[in-house]
Amino acid sequence: MPSVQTIETSQNELLWVLETRNMGYAFAWNKQQRLENVYWGAKLPYPTDYAPRPIAFDPLGNWNIARSTYEEFPAWGDYKFNEPCLKVRFSDGVRACLLDYKNATVTENMASTTLTIHLQDQHYPLKVRLIYEVFADHDIIVRRAEVENTGSEPIELEQILTAALHLPRHESYQLTSLSGKWGGEFQVQRFDLPRGKQLIERRRGSTGFDSNPFFMLGADGKSTETSGDVWFGALAFSGNYKIVLERDAFEHVSVSGGINDFDFRWLLEAGETFTTPAFVAGYTPQGYGAASRLLHAYENQHIVPRETASQPRPIVYNSWYVTEFDVRFENQIKAVELAAKIGVELFVMDDGWFGQRNNDRAGLGDWYVNKEKFPQGLTPLISRVNELGMDFGIWVEPEMVNPDSDLYRTHPNWVYHFANRPLSVGRNQLVLNVARPDVQQFILGFMTDLLANNNIKFIKWDMNRHFSEPGWAEAPAGRDREFWVRHTQGVYEIWQQLRQKFPHVLFESCASGGGRVDLGIMQYADQFWMSDNTDPYDDLFIQEGFTLAHTPLTRMMWVTDANGINGRSYSFEYRFHLAMMGVLGIGADLTKWSPADLDKATAFIALYKEIRETMQFGAFYRLRSPRESALSAFQFIHPSGNEAVVTVFLSQSQFGYFATPIRLEGLDPDARYQVDGWDETWSGQALMQRGLPIALKGSFVSQLIRLVRM
Ligand code: DGJ
Repeated sequence: MPSVQTIETSQNELLWVLETRNMGYAFAWNKQQRLENVYWGAKLPYPTDYAPRPIAFDPLGNWNIARSTYEEFPAWGDYKFNEPCLKVRFSDGVRACLLDYKNATVTENMASTTLTIHLQDQHYPLKVRLIYEVFADHDIIVRRAEVENTGSEPIELEQILTAALHLPRHESYQLTSLSGKWGGEFQVQRFDLPRGKQLIERRRGSTGFDSNPFFMLGADGKSTETSGDVWFGALAFSGNYKIVLERDAFEHVSVSGGINDFDFRWLLEAGETFTTPAFVAGYTPQGYGAASRLLHAYENQHIVPRETASQPRPIVYNSWYVTEFDVRFENQIKAVELAAKIGVELFVMDDGWFGQRNNDRAGLGDWYVNKEKFPQGLTPLISRVNELGMDFGIWVEPEMVNPDSDLYRTHPNWVYHFANRPLSVGRNQLVLNVARPDVQQFILGFMTDLLANNNIKFIKWDMNRHFSEPGWAEAPAGRDREFWVRHTQGVYEIWQQLRQKFPHVLFESCASGGGRVDLGIMQYADQFWMSDNTDPYDDLFIQEGFTLAHTPLTRMMWVTDANGINGRSYSFEYRFHLAMMGVLGIGADLTKWSPADLDKATAFIALYKEIRETMQFGAFYRLRSPRESALSAFQFIHPSGNEAVVTVFLSQSQFGYFATPIRLEGLDPDARYQVDGWDETWSGQALMQRGLPIALKGSFVSQLIRLVRM
């Protein structure tokens, strides 16, 4: 069955049915001349099952209104009041937009099928294209919209979301979303979707901690980690976004998402086209865990940068928590020698190596090597790193500037600011206006020099404050509010160009921890710094939330000494087991580790190298949540199915504690598995039904168990 079918119904309506392995999604150009969603959920057996039907019962006697709320891309302008995807102002002042269907096209791509619905305003020269890319193997549809001004006068865009999604009517929906803070990112919250509007949004310029552009919805309280219907979606955008979940009095639930209209304006000049970010949407009948795995597989295969997608991520050392801004040749070289000994593959130098950057009050923006700290430049350090068989990486924060810097003194107009208003600093820094082409050129220029003149294989790109006083006085007339989008587009463009010029360099997205993690920047970033909080117990929660929406392949965490956040200390095992669940790094003071400690670390790193493919590319299962049990557990299955790794963490236990077995998932029921240290093999079915017995007791203890399929 093709994944996109166009059907003319017995009622002479045009119907499009989009199908994946398990999902059906259908919408029609209906008799009321609206593009109406008919269905989204489990795949149905026959095309006729998707037919749009007249509403059998009309509670208020005005079913046109009821049906208009199901539009795929509601444009504001007539008798409807739900969240619009499009709100425009034409040059004569008219602010109503009425879209007619023109035609549809279908194209087959290597791994997907694309349906494009062409719409046109009934009167004004405005075309809209709704693009649906169907990834049948992933149970995912990626929606985008393009708006084109085909006339000779400018058109103002006041609101443009990517898409409206509509869910079948149920008694209740449970929303799962991510909300957090610095040092406590990606906290999972799940609650009944109330009537009215629920907003997941950002107004501070970048993705942020307090929310993430992602949702999952389960129905009727029946969906769990391992079973039940789950609808999910994520926006591929790192600037101000908005996801509006609307539940009306008739249990109609919609999810509209895209660029936030807060303080937004976009001037669409004659001949110009505006393209929205992608809204990735999927469905599974198998619970929240399966929904995450669908997203992970789709991200690994279609979002993370292609040139490095299948490249195992190296083990990093970074001295930030040891030296902070006081990086200098002497302390870095000591760390280099020790890092190489324990098996590190990539030595990364963090903040403090440039300009007059001795603390966070000065030097940001001055991207020349600090000669007091590195009298011979970076070459001696990088050469030694390379001699010891490691690659070298470096920290930058290109979108920011300290007022106390040569860059700011030379270009005070490059930061966002309003005339006659004071500037607020955050971490003593200001935000450069990356919407400006000259700022983009500056960043591209110094980054190109840095990468061309030094053997650098990894960039940690940081971003440490929110936008405020977002004025852009020199903007072309009518375009001063476009920076909310152009800044992010500018960052994407710079990363894109750098990746093209330096295809073997890995990029990490960091924003005071996991403050810029989303499917937009993931197109350019190989990995994310998950959190500045390296406390492994806290990270169990952060990890759980991170993996709801984001693949473990992109999740970087370090083993550190007790950190300043809550001062707790843990065993080596506990720290390593936690940090290994994705991409492993080390951020501890190796000079203070005893020879025995260094040996232990060497053994853990060697183990990680053996299981790394499973931890980075494997299918990931949240077996037991730290939110629900003192004993949490996670599982990874190698893409070949031949190896699995289970990590178990006990935060505390009382006298007599006897853990219930951890029941595994996703194994081949009939295959036999050899479990670490067991004499007998067990079938996959036994491991899934009887579970792994766990003998942990005490506080902050952990276990990593390997299984091999015989
Ligand atoms: C914030 C990051 O999250 C840290 O890892 C570190 O790179 C500092 N910035 C450096 O200023």
